[in-house]
Amino acid sequence: MPEKTGVGIFYTSVYGNTERAVLLLNEKLQKVGVTTQVYDLSKCDMSAAVAAAFEFDKAVFATTTYNMDVFPFMRDFLERLAERNYQNRKVALIENGSWAPNAAKVMQGILEKCKNISYAEPVVRINSAMSNENEDQISLLCKELL
Ligand SMILES: Cc1cc2nc3c(=O)[nH]c(=O)nc-3n(C[C@H](O)[C@H](O)[C@H](O)COP(=O)(O)O)c2cc1C
Repeated sequence: MPEKTGVGIFYTSVYGNTERAVLLLNEKLQKVGVTTQVYDLSKCDMSAAVAAAFEFDKAVFATTTYNMDVFPFMRDFLERLAERNYQNRKVALIENGSWAPNAAKVMQGILEKCKNISYAEPVVRINSAMSNENEDQISLLCKELL
């Protein structure tokens, strides 16, 4: 069972665009008083990120499409969650891809065996850099994660 009400935000970003989206969502959540913790999976201690995912009742997973897969740190992270029976959580997904975004599908595939995962709407698809539509979608996600 999750120990805390709040949102763990876990991401990777090569050029910074996915990070911008994540930081915008984080700012919006904090503004309305939601407890959050943000983890850049390429820099943080992976076991600390895994522990945080289990602490919170909600999570955001945001990553880039990388050769039709997800960025390796995100794959490693999600596989660790799945191996440890991550379940009963609300999850929001943000994907980035320049020509054939596929990260959300891959993330959902890894989490398929996890029980009782509900996905927040919408899944945000960024094409390289955030659009105005993406910013609106992030506002919607914020409401879903209250
Ligand atoms: C090595 C590499 C592989 C990539 N593979 C894909 C891909 O398969 N499909 C796609 O749509 N974009 C692909 N991209 C583009 C990235 O997804 C895009 O540059 C990135 O999502 C931008 O987000 P960021 O600024 O957060 O890094 C690739 C980029 C790199 C560097």
